[in-house]
Amino acid sequence: MRTLIRNGTVVNAGGAIAADVLVDGETIAAVTAPGVFDTADTVIEADGRYVLPGGIDGHTHMEMPFGGTFSADTFATGTTAAAWGGTTTIIDFAVQAKGTSLLATLDKWHEKADSHCAIDYGFHMIVSDVNDQSLKEMESCIDAGVNSFKMFMAYPGVFYATDGEILRAMQKATDTGSMIMMHAENGIAIDELVAQAVAAGRTDPVEHGITRPPELEGEATSRAIQLAKVTGAPLYIVHLSARHALDAVAAARNIGQNVFAETCPQYLYLSIEDLAKPDFEGAKYVASPPLRPKDHQADLWRGLRTNDLSVVSTDHCPFCFVDQKELGRGDFSKIPNGMPGVEHRMDLLHQGVVAGEITLARWVEVCSATPARMFGLYPRKGVIAPGADADIVVYDPAATQTLSVTTHHMNVDYSAYEGMSITGKVESVLSRGSVVIADGAFHGAEGHGRFLSRELSQYLV
Ligand code: URP
Ligand code: ZN
Ligand code: ZN
Repeated sequence: MRTLIRNGTVVNAGGAIAADVLVDGETIAAVTAPGVFDTADTVIEADGRYVLPGGIDGHTHMEMPFGGTFSADTFATGTTAAAWGGTTTIIDFAVQAKGTSLLATLDKWHEKADSHCAIDYGFHMIVSDVNDQSLKEMESCIDAGVNSFKMFMAYPGVFYATDGEILRAMQKATDTGSMIMMHAENGIAIDELVAQAVAAGRTDPVEHGITRPPELEGEATSRAIQLAKVTGAPLYIVHLSARHALDAVAAARNIGQNVFAETCPQYLYLSIEDLAKPDFEGAKYVASPPLRPKDHQADLWRGLRTNDLSVVSTDHCPFCFVDQKELGRGDFSKIPNGMPGVEHRMDLLHQGVVAGEITLARWVEVCSATPARMFGLYPRKGVIAPGADADIVVYDPAATQTLSVTTHHMNVDYSAYEGMSITGKVESVLSRGSVVIADGAFHGAEGHGRFLSRELSQYLV
């Protein structure tokens, strides 16, 4: 089965060219000057369209256990929504519960995801119980294609790891060439601020932001960087939200330390003003780290340009407003942490191109090519080139759309971007050569997605 995508503008991280793309089976067979091939089983006209490597969202949480409930997207619904938005690969997090083994956790996550994903998927592992066994099991996870391990400096009593535990895991990462991903917020100090706020009757959602100040993200980021330096471990800071943390990452990178960071669309477009919405509406925006004052956004865009922020992921972790966010009415500390977004990352970052914040090529780089390299998937994913998987997005840069709960495909009862006007729209999506989105309809299938056993990060050689 051959598909020809013709007369489009092929955009890779290296730049844009007018080219045709010939797909044969599951992979890209050729990228040629326009008109070299004129027939195929299927022809997709891409005149005036961008032809992009499928988006890679390196940070999602489908069916994640959190705060006594589970994030609302299953692997089936969440990956379908991702496809609608031009994302053809997700890397989700298997979550080790305290007292359980990493390998049993991995089995459990395979059970949740295998035969259910509409697009390809991989796993990171959340390590919440550092002991001799789990440190040893990190090696088996790496053999099983899961070579990035998330740890938390936040959430004491749940996922929190002490500095000593982080140090031991980092030593293992150094020995194995694997990667530690860090949720960098000072959870001990934050929990104290939270307890003080609740005791004083300050219980609205905005308190979530007030009790998690940017200084405590900056402090934890600096501490993680120093621990990584002492152990020689590479470090990937997840969901960076504040300039305080960005400054720490930039300083480490300036002295040549292997430190990387991602940010998320919500930190580029939303702010603490959303958390302060009345009538408990702010609960829709509770995620950690919290949304920051607006003036952090310019710094994050700058970080994306300077490569101190090298990836944009969504941290997609949806909880319904009715029933789930409700758990924290009257006590913000009980609101499940997380926001929906897997469907909108490509569109939202395209607004950065439209606004002149980033170039077209940089859009593709932070949303596809760098996550592929960072998480050991390149050049199978993240590039339009012969031999790569035919994960391809045909994107109309001139189309317009309005984001809304009434039109999105995520299994959640609100949109964090309700009413936002977007320039650009995904038109067609191929996943390993199969058309999954075309003509405004989903043509994919639950179970089409394959597990990706990942190589080690290509930034750590
Ligand atoms: O609030 C968030 N970010 N929820 C998901 C879990 C995490 O820390 O990434
Ligand atoms: Zn986190
Ligand atoms: Zn997350």
